[in-house]
Amino acid sequence: MLETLILAAGKGTRMKSKLPKVLHKIGGKPMLRHVIDAAKRAGSVREVVVIGAGAEMVENEISGVEFVMQIEQLGTGHAVLCAKENFANSTGTLLILCGDTPLLTSDLLKKFIAAHEESNCAVTVLTAEMPDATGYGRVIREDDGTFKKIVEDKDANAIEKQIREVNAGVYCADIRKLFAALDKVKNDNAQGEYYLPDVLTILKAEHEKVAIYTAEYCDETLGINTRIQLAAADQIIHRKKLHALMNSGVTIVDPGTTFIDCDVEIGQDTIIHPNTYLEGNTTIGADCDIGPNVRFTNMKVGNKVTAQFSYCHEAEIADGVTLGPYVHIRPGSKIGQNVKIGNFVEIKNSTIGEETKLPHLQYIGDTDMGKHVNVGCGTVTCNYDGKKKFRTKVGDNVFIGCNTNLVAPVTVGDGAYIGAGSTITKDVPNNSLAIARARQTNIADWNDKRK
Ligand code: UD1
Ligand code: CA
Repeated sequence: MLETLILAAGKGTRMKSKLPKVLHKIGGKPMLRHVIDAAKRAGSVREVVVIGAGAEMVENEISGVEFVMQIEQLGTGHAVLCAKENFANSTGTLLILCGDTPLLTSDLLKKFIAAHEESNCAVTVLTAEMPDATGYGRVIREDDGTFKKIVEDKDANAIEKQIREVNAGVYCADIRKLFAALDKVKNDNAQGEYYLPDVLTILKAEHEKVAIYTAEYCDETLGINTRIQLAAADQIIHRKKLHALMNSGVTIVDPGTTFIDCDVEIGQDTIIHPNTYLEGNTTIGADCDIGPNVRFTNMKVGNKVTAQFSYCHEAEIADGVTLGPYVHIRPGSKIGQNVKIGNFVEIKNSTIGEETKLPHLQYIGDTDMGKHVNVGCGTVTCNYDGKKKFRTKVGDNVFIGCNTNLVAPVTVGDGAYIGAGSTITKDVPNNSLAIARARQTNIADWNDKRK
């Protein structure tokens, strides 16, 4: 049974942010969530997260784990010690991760854990060769290549600073041996902190076996301490996502201008055009044509949907829908099959029945609209009286003339027609024609008389 401890209590001073560091997002997901998900996928059955700075925000944002408080952030060693009680009854292996290394994959973790369990060591540390090791703890090896110690960047001398092999902040340890050694860690270093890596030196001095496992690629072990590193990690994760999608049969016309969050799903033979942002839990079906210039956030989109120059969020779009250019679909909307929505249309909290057409310049809010409705240009639902919102109901096979106002609450029955320019304030019965506009008066020879 693999248990995991994740360190996430640090202030993240170098981020210069009100938000705790581990809640900053890459690929549309908080860094801490990435770390938790990787641990779970690697076989962890229990995750304990040490929180402190901005603890309440972290607890509100992250679910499915246990939290433990580190009230004062006295260092990574002290952070692990805070969780001692949580593991009082545990034996076996503990995986330790940092909340600020979000690119770790479960594949790497699985290999790392397997290597640790095979080696029968007290502790194994994950390391990587970094092109630029600044900021990381450097790994000092004995002449025979085995572990000697880890020296933090701030404590390193000029020679040690040249070492490019770094501590990734990931460990597998025998739980009982780890906690026994932690009590002996001191804070006599440049930062006056209790360093977790010192546990390894202590265990080694006690003739326990300490192993090193070196990762093949260094980008998985990137630690995020600054916003520059955050942007670098975000780029890596977005690029990986695009590669995975392309390998699964999605066309990405211009990977350089396409941003797809890591939890987005897209079906086969869908084409994504430039300047497109697909965010959050968005799912898109097969054979769609999305973009250019589309932003979808938390959208559920069917097959064969076409969209260009549009922003849609927290809504559902069925198969065969055409959107854009310049459509805004707002939360709570459900767009039925083969609906056409185009040219400056806004839809909010409304359901639109199949085959209905909203081709140009409409505002449809808080509305339940049926099938096969033709909505004329400039139609507006007047859903707000300054205090309250009201719903509009439109039946099936309705024809709404151009420039109609539907003053809610109001119902237009099945098969009804509305004359252009009407302001509809009363219900329209099924199959009737409603005209609600001033009658036209023509004054004969008016222009001649004016002279
Ligand atoms: C740490 C390691 C360093 C390693 C690097 C990898 C130590 C002393 N140093 O350095 O060897 O190369 O990670 O990225 O461990 N945290 C707490 N409580 C604390 C302090 C930190 O929970 O009191 C958490 C932070 O929220 C963070 C993680 O521990 O998620 C690492 O802390 P950070 O300050 O970023 O350590 P680094 O300086 O990066
Ligand atoms: Ca760090």
